[in-house]
Amino acid sequence: MLQSPNCLLEILSPTNETLERAAHLLLKGELVGIPTETVYGLAADATNDHAVAKIYSLKKRPQFNPLIIHFAEVSAIKSHVEWNNMAENLAHAFWPGPLTLILRKKIDSPLSLLATAGLDTVGVRIPRHNVARLLIQKIGKPLAAPSANPSEAISPTSALDVRRGFDSQKPLLIIDGGICEGGLESTILDLTLNIPTILRPGLITPEAIEEILQCRVLRSSPNSLFKAPGQMKRHYAPHIPLRLNVTNVSSSEALLAFGPSPLSGGAKMLNLSQDGNLEEAAANLFRMMHELDQPFFSGIAVMPISSEAIGVAINDRLCRAATKKEN
Ligand code: TXA
Ligand code: MG
Repeated sequence: MLQSPNCLLEILSPTNETLERAAHLLLKGELVGIPTETVYGLAADATNDHAVAKIYSLKKRPQFNPLIIHFAEVSAIKSHVEWNNMAENLAHAFWPGPLTLILRKKIDSPLSLLATAGLDTVGVRIPRHNVARLLIQKIGKPLAAPSANPSEAISPTSALDVRRGFDSQKPLLIIDGGICEGGLESTILDLTLNIPTILRPGLITPEAIEEILQCRVLRSSPNSLFKAPGQMKRHYAPHIPLRLNVTNVSSSEALLAFGPSPLSGGAKMLNLSQDGNLEEAAANLFRMMHELDQPFFSGIAVMPISSEAIGVAINDRLCRAATKKEN
C-alpha cells in the first residue's frame, strides 16, 4: 500500500480484497480510480447521480461534458441503448478494447442523466483491462468513468499519475493495474449520425473501422463541426508552455523527441519512440508530458510527429495541449 503523508489517496494492488472494497465503495456512491487499457478512469456507479456528481466536482469538469459508460458485456449494454448492426459488427471486432460507440439511449435506461449530460445519446465501451471488467461484474452495474485527471490536465497512465493529479483532495482509493498498455483514450465513434463519424481519434484507426463497416467514416479534426461536447480546444495541457513541430530547442526547454535523431541542446530529453514507432509514442505521450511538466523548464519543445494512422490522435492531443489558455 502506498499512502503519501498529507493526503488521503490510497493506492492498492488489485487483490480480491481490494476489489471487494472497491465494489463496496462504488455501491455506496463513492469514487474509485481504476485502470483501463487506455488511461486510468475515475469511476462511479453510472446509475447514481450523486456518485456521478462527485466525478464532476473532483475533476472540476464542465457539467455539459458527458461521460463514457463502461460495461463488462454487450448484453448489458443492449438494455440501455438502441443497438444496431454496425454496433454489433464493431463490438465483435474491437471489444473489449479502446473503442467508444455513441448510440441512442433507450428512454427507460436508468443511467444517470448527469452522466450523459442530459443528451439522448450515450457513449459506451467495454474496456479490455481485467480489473475494470471484474469490478463492473462484481457490482453488476455500469461504471461512468472519465479519465482520472483534473479537467484540462494530462490524462493519467499510472496509479501514481492519478494520485499526483488529485493530491490533498478527498479520500480516494486507486487500484493499481500497472502502466496503461495503450496510453491514449479510446476512439469515439458516433453511430447516431447519417454517416458514422469519429468524434475523437484514438487507438483504433478510421481505416480499421471502415474495414469492418465496409463504408466510409467521417473524421473530425480539432476545428471540425463534429466534436465530442467535451472536446474543448485547450485540453490535456501541461502547466508550462508547449511548442510543437520544433526544429531547435533552447537550453532552458525540455525536449519531447520522436525518432532516431533527437535534437540536441535542451535541458532534458525524453524520446517518445527512438524507432519512430507511433504506437510506442502514443503509449508514452502522457507519461512523458507529465515527467517534463516541471516549473524549472521554460517549456516543452515537441519534435514533429507524422500524422499517419495513430499519429492523428497524438497530434490532436498535442494541438489541444499547446492551445493558449483563454481568458
Ligand atoms: O479511454 C477512454 O475513453 C477513457 C477511459 C477511462 O475509458 N475515458 C475518457 O473519458 O477518456 P473522458 O470523459 O475523459 O472523455 C469522454 C469524451 C468526452 O470528450 C465527451 O464529451 C465524449 O466522450 N462523450 C461522452 N458521451 C458522449 C455523447 N453522448 N456524445 C458525444 N460525445 C460524448
Ligand atoms: Mg479526459
